[in-house]
Amino acid sequence: MTIVITGATGHLGRQVIEQLLARGVDPSTIVAGGRNEDALAQLAGKGIRTARVDYSDPSTLDDAFVGAEKVLLISGNEMGKRSVQHKAVIDAARKAGASLVYTSAPKASTSALVLAPEHKATEGLLEGSGLTYTVLRNNWYTENYDDTIRQAATTGSILTSTGRGKIASATRRDYAEAAAVVLLSDEYAGEILELGGDEPWDFDELAATVSEVAGNHVTVNQVSTEEHIAALKGFGLDDGTAGFVAALDANIAEGLLAESDGTLSRIIGRPTTPLRQYVGDLLGA
Ligand SMILES: NC(=O)c1ccc[n+]([C@@H]2O[C@H](COP(=O)([O-])OP(=O)(O)OC[C@H]3O[C@@H](n4cnc5c(N)ncnc54)[C@H](OP(=O)(O)O)[C@@H]3O)[C@@H](O)[C@H]2O)c1
Repeated sequence: MTIVITGATGHLGRQVIEQLLARGVDPSTIVAGGRNEDALAQLAGKGIRTARVDYSDPSTLDDAFVGAEKVLLISGNEMGKRSVQHKAVIDAARKAGASLVYTSAPKASTSALVLAPEHKATEGLLEGSGLTYTVLRNNWYTENYDDTIRQAATTGSILTSTGRGKIASATRRDYAEAAAVVLLSDEYAGEILELGGDEPWDFDELAATVSEVAGNHVTVNQVSTEEHIAALKGFGLDDGTAGFVAALDANIAEGLLAESDGTLSRIIGRPTTPLRQYVGDLLGA
């Protein structure tokens, strides 16, 4: 079986490949796709086949997907272009006769999450594609908070506008394991899987965890969305980025990332990485 991983040059894609190899997959049956030539060369050094894949250049997709049985479409990161790019990947998978696994966002088809529309559009394309597919609706990566955690450990404070909203985050490693399990099985064909951490947390819990690990006292400075945007701009973010970050925090405050039903831990056969363990590892404590 040949498995094509798009976005293989990124953080999640590389970990999915590690997880496939850890499960005994022959590296020569994996095709790693991406644009970053240095990252592709590193993967080739492990015996993995590589292909230049650009979601905006359908001919690269057709070439890379020849002989593919399964394709993991890791969502792109060029906001606003992704629906069209993902359509090109779906079309190429159909031509190749491959089934497809797609990394989406929590409750993408109904959520008010600012990131949901392109994922909803992609899921809609999959539904009408005739392909056999599985959707991995990944919640947040715990890694999204690396800078916040490090700064909290140093400065003793966290600025946020998430209120009491919880985040069912898991690590990329957790999601990568699930992607590998799904790619290596036919059990999940046709399923839309809501994947998240077992123990959703809020910023008070994050602060308490950093306090415990770092041995300092971390306070949470909860601000309004407008105050958050102003503060982020004060740190040098442009208007668009500051507004986007604050909008995501507002989504969290609304509870849009709060739910987890244990599907991720069931698929990977172990609990998801606890926040305490993650913070301890990150801070080297
Ligand atoms: N759940 C979350 O918290 C969260 C957070 C951030 C992002 N995401 C989403 O999850 C995806 C994977 O996360 P990650 O951490 O692995 O992101 P990442 O490290 O930024 O990797 C993104 C990958 O997408 C590839 N890509 C982007 N545009 C492409 C294009 N036009 N053609 C071909 N490849 C393209 C990149 O390839 P090259 O570098 O080779 O161009 C790279 O391999 C992201 O792309 C984003 O959609 C989720």
